Amino acid sequence: MKEKLNQIREAALNAIDTATDATLEQIKVRYLGKKGELTAVLRGMGSLTPEERPKIGQLANDIRESIEAAIAKKVQEAQAKGLERKLRAEKLDVTVPGTALPAGHIHPLTKVRRDLEDIFIGMGFQVVEGPEVELDYYNFQALNIPENHPARDTQDTFYITDKILLRSQTSPVQVRTMEHRKPPIRIISPGRVYRSDALDSTHSPLFHQLEGLVVDKGITMGDLKGTLETFAKKMFGENTRIRFRPHHFPFTEPSAEVDASCFVCGGKGCRLCKGEGWIEILGAGMVHPFVLSNCGIDPEEYSGFAFGLGIERITMISRGIDDIRLFYENDQRFLNQF
Ligand code: DAH
Repeated sequence: MKEKLNQIREAALNAIDTATDATLEQIKVRYLGKKGELTAVLRGMGSLTPEERPKIGQLANDIRESIEAAIAKKVQEAQAKGLERKLRAEKLDVTVPGTALPAGHIHPLTKVRRDLEDIFIGMGFQVVEGPEVELDYYNFQALNIPENHPARDTQDTFYITDKILLRSQTSPVQVRTMEHRKPPIRIISPGRVYRSDALDSTHSPLFHQLEGLVVDKGITMGDLKGTLETFAKKMFGENTRIRFRPHHFPFTEPSAEVDASCFVCGGKGCRLCKGEGWIEILGAGMVHPFVLSNCGIDPEEYSGFAFGLGIERITMISRGIDDIRLFYENDQRFLNQF
């Protein structure tokens, strides 16, 4: 019996030594289980002499303990190995460069708006903003465009109610500014405007304007010309000249449309200026006395000039873009060129 037990020990320890995670549990059952080999041998203990019995019992216990210890050791080793394998497999090299994300960039309209702001801020202007949902009063009435005035037809307006609309120009910000500020005033106001125009290559129901307003004692048409000339040179190049053509806006008197000499041909005539040598860039004029007094500013004491330009238009001219729709379609092939 002693021999049998020693054989079991040897066989069990050998088996454990070469066991894998999966077979270890089988080995445990095979040798130590209720129907295991060790138990089977011990069942035969009844045939032993009383002297032999405790010795064999002791031996069987030792064997059981050594098998259990061997299994525990094997389990521990397997766990340690598993952890090591996992650590090796999941090793992170923190010095490997990450996947580069393509960087976005500023939309051409935003870029030009910022350039415009920089130019005018450089001349001492302050940037102010006004609401896009506006009262008829500010968009038309206070700007000397009463009901039934033909100028309303040129700005097809989105009305929300009889008195509330989506502003069709940035000029209402002039009125809002003069209402709560005393001169000297020197502001620009960029922003979205809306007109119920069908979308085509030169029209969009939503576009952007930039309004300018200067009010102080003794402001003249000369100040307007000087300001716009400085602006045109900074925007289109040092050699740029400007010219005023008489025009009519209800909120300015006198009014003008302002052209810049073509920066491509210098005035000789080319494709960009359609052979004219000049490109229209904005509308301007001296603030109408009616508008000043409407805002509580005495036109006998103060005078001012105003101008308004289309940011899309300036961007299209300066970047050679021939279709306004390109700004809003977000086609990467277009945007990536800027
Ligand atoms: N608000 C005019 C428009 O949308 C542009 C304009 C012209 C603004 C002359 C002005 C100005 O301030 O003096 O057509």
